[in-house]
Amino acid sequence: MRCIFLFLALLCCVTPGWVGASWAMDGDLIAGCAPCHGLDGIGRDAEIPNLAGQNEAYLFNQLRAFRAGRRAHQEMQYMSRHMTELEMQSLAAYFSSLPPR
Ligand code: HEC
Repeated sequence: MRCIFLFLALLCCVTPGWVGASWAMDGDLIAGCAPCHGLDGIGRDAEIPNLAGQNEAYLFNQLRAFRAGRRAHQEMQYMSRHMTELEMQSLAAYFSSLPPR
């Protein structure tokens, strides 16, 4: 847990626009994605897509589509059900900023 915090604190410094309390919220959100997509945005399993380095607008639109049920996927619909636009935007910005593999 501690090293996740260090990692996020570091990210907070290198990612402009992440200020004050908002990064704590983003940190919690990202931690929820990590078991499947990894903190580094690389899928942990063959069925899980890599998010690292993907187009930001694409990621954002996929999250909206999952939330609205336009893109059907049980886990992702569950993950996105309570997300705000702002949260989806920051998640898309975070994962698109990571180096692809
Ligand atoms: C339980 C595992 C799991 C968790 C947790 C999870 N995802 Fe996913 N995610 C998936 C799977 C599996 C897919 C592929 C869905 C499909 O086949 O349509 C996916 C797809 C996606 C996509 C679409 C990628 C693409 O290339 O089209 C995005 C964006 C995404 N997830 C973001 C997130 C974010 C952000 C979180 C954290 C809030 C998260 N996911 C948490 C399993 C997960």
